[in-house]
Amino acid sequence: MQRLIEVHPDHFHLKAPGASYVIELVRGTYLSHAHWGAPLESWGGANAHRGQDRAFAPNPDITDRTLSLDTLKQEYPNPGGSDFRSPAWLARTEPSSAAHSGEFVYRGHRLVTGKPLLAGLPSATSRSRDDCETLELDLEDGLTGLKAILSYTVFRTAPVICRSVRFQNSGKASLRLERALSMSMDFDLPEARLLQLSGSWARERTVRETVLGEGSISLESRRGASSHQHNPFVAILSAESTEDHGEVRGFHLVYSGNFLAQAETDQFGTTRLQLGINPWAFSWELAPGESFQTPEVILSYSAEGLGGYSRQIHRFIRDHLCRGPWVNRERPILINNWEATYFDFNEEKLSSIVQKAAPLGVELFVLDDGWFGQRRDDRRALGDWVVNRTKLPGGLEGIAKTTRQAGMKFGLWFEPEMVSVDSDLYRAHPDWCIHEEGRTRSEGRSQLVLNLGRPEVRAHVIQSLKLILDSGSIDYVKWDSNRHLTECDGSTAHRHMLGLYQVLESITSAYPEILFESCSGGGGRFDAGMLYYMPQVWTSDNTDAVSRLSIQWGTSIAYPPATMGAHVSAVPNHQVGRMTSVKMRADVAMTGAFGYELDPVVFSPEEAREVQDLNAWYKANRRTLQFGDFHRLKSPASHDAAAWMSVAPDKTRAVAFWFQIMARANAPQRVLRLKGLDPRKTYRVSGACAGEWSGSELMGAGIRLPDLHGDYTSIRLELQAN
Ligand code: GLA
Repeated sequence: MQRLIEVHPDHFHLKAPGASYVIELVRGTYLSHAHWGAPLESWGGANAHRGQDRAFAPNPDITDRTLSLDTLKQEYPNPGGSDFRSPAWLARTEPSSAAHSGEFVYRGHRLVTGKPLLAGLPSATSRSRDDCETLELDLEDGLTGLKAILSYTVFRTAPVICRSVRFQNSGKASLRLERALSMSMDFDLPEARLLQLSGSWARERTVRETVLGEGSISLESRRGASSHQHNPFVAILSAESTEDHGEVRGFHLVYSGNFLAQAETDQFGTTRLQLGINPWAFSWELAPGESFQTPEVILSYSAEGLGGYSRQIHRFIRDHLCRGPWVNRERPILINNWEATYFDFNEEKLSSIVQKAAPLGVELFVLDDGWFGQRRDDRRALGDWVVNRTKLPGGLEGIAKTTRQAGMKFGLWFEPEMVSVDSDLYRAHPDWCIHEEGRTRSEGRSQLVLNLGRPEVRAHVIQSLKLILDSGSIDYVKWDSNRHLTECDGSTAHRHMLGLYQVLESITSAYPEILFESCSGGGGRFDAGMLYYMPQVWTSDNTDAVSRLSIQWGTSIAYPPATMGAHVSAVPNHQVGRMTSVKMRADVAMTGAFGYELDPVVFSPEEAREVQDLNAWYKANRRTLQFGDFHRLKSPASHDAAAWMSVAPDKTRAVAFWFQIMARANAPQRVLRLKGLDPRKTYRVSGACAGEWSGSELMGAGIRLPDLHGDYTSIRLELQAN
């Protein structure tokens, strides 16, 4: 079998299918980043760094004024030396905190078959012994004895490299790590754009692109969660790249807490891209002999535009990041009672929802917030995970039984990381929350965060969840987290995140058949870290169909459709007040883990029939919609229309959607050019534009869409190859 990693005297060449990564060893001492992009047969250094004596560029070797770390393209830059750009790490010696420089130099390397697990952290995994190889590069700071092992895993199945760093204190004194980024990379890509997915609660992951120029762009979370505001994902698009053409390099940080993603472009146009745990308010004591593992970054390269990039990373996330039997299993159509009842429900009301939904083809009923303790509103009872018998006299077993008898599965909402101030748990253990002695305990939604860095708190959370999950009546869990971290000292936020990952590992591995959906006020933790434990995420608390077009469009750049929870909710929409048809709402929600978030009891007979038909249609096309190749056709950014489609991997089936946002009088003819079909196959198109055409015609010339009247209308096309 061909090796994925070549070791040469002066460089390392990592050869993934469709991409090469080259690191040069300069003077046997410095690791210089040489190439990450198009696949290369070999590396001869044709474009390698040539030393140049430049003004104001200091030199580590006084005999050579052409070598400066300020101009060398680096792999993991040191702090405080002759490089004035942003360092990848910083460690201070204890007890003196003055030391501000460090000099990692290359000491050696190792090749490892497969991919070692990252201690306590989520990461991409190999699925077989030889589907990847790992290169470990040893760096050492002679003065302190601090070591860093840079790890690079190359996959045989995809143009993907995973990078992370392990620090080891091999010195005699304690050190304090204050910056420990997962990766740094210097590259020259004139006029490249940085793509970010940013927003806020209910407006998550809006696409924004910025042309890189001198100075820095930093995206960060200081909230203790990856956040609604910025996603721990960025892509670098070369100047000419578009949705369908050109080079795209994507970077996912596999972490759900505070992060930094920074692109710093220097005086010569070289960009330094860095990702990792946010150094803001971060410090980690490293006693002699101790290690610190950074989270991992998944780097993926595509020469086929943003669309090609997305399809490739979707596959990789499904094949190498998400785990468990649900990853490639069709996700059930669910109905969640949150927007139907909020906290105001009893067994009778829930039963009526179940009885109404089951004959419509809904497969899973999810009981949301409010089923436990004194939880009559969002001011109390988090932590008291005991069923409220006033609301549910038959207990969870009662409503679970009703649900099963109706032929549906039963799911339950939890918010395990939190405690309400007004709760029995807080009264018993007021010190279990994250806090600083003598300081204000800031509340968010009247709740505090349990400090999962503490073993006894973790043990309690695991035990209370198991008490309920052991009943065997739960098929699905919605795992929520509805506030961010405050009053943390330097290591609290990361310790908490490691603790949360331990809890998630323990629970999700104990109940592999339960489908877990992660949530944080909607999409506040839609990140690669969470996807390692839970294969789907509630994409946003905003269920308005029009808002969802841009939220799901942006999310699809980095994450696969099957990971996106998407529901039809009632109108007027609860977040924006908009009226849209059931069809439009369903068409938007169908490209994902589909469901409902409304009260079906109020459906008219016509609406009930329509929903029944929608569900039947969805089931027939679900595999393509959830696991097909996703193609973005028209961006909703123009505010007039949007379109996307999904194609089965063997290209025999496809589904395309056109969404008209704003109607126009006397509008020009609309032609939709499809993508991803087999040009030689003939497709039977059903739906709004029925007929038979070749794939080449549907892609090359496009299909004429009928005129649509009214705002917020949609067209659905189903394609079947003959
Ligand atoms: C969060 C979730 C919602 C719902 C509520 C319940 O906001 O995103 O879907 O579960 O909590 O309190």
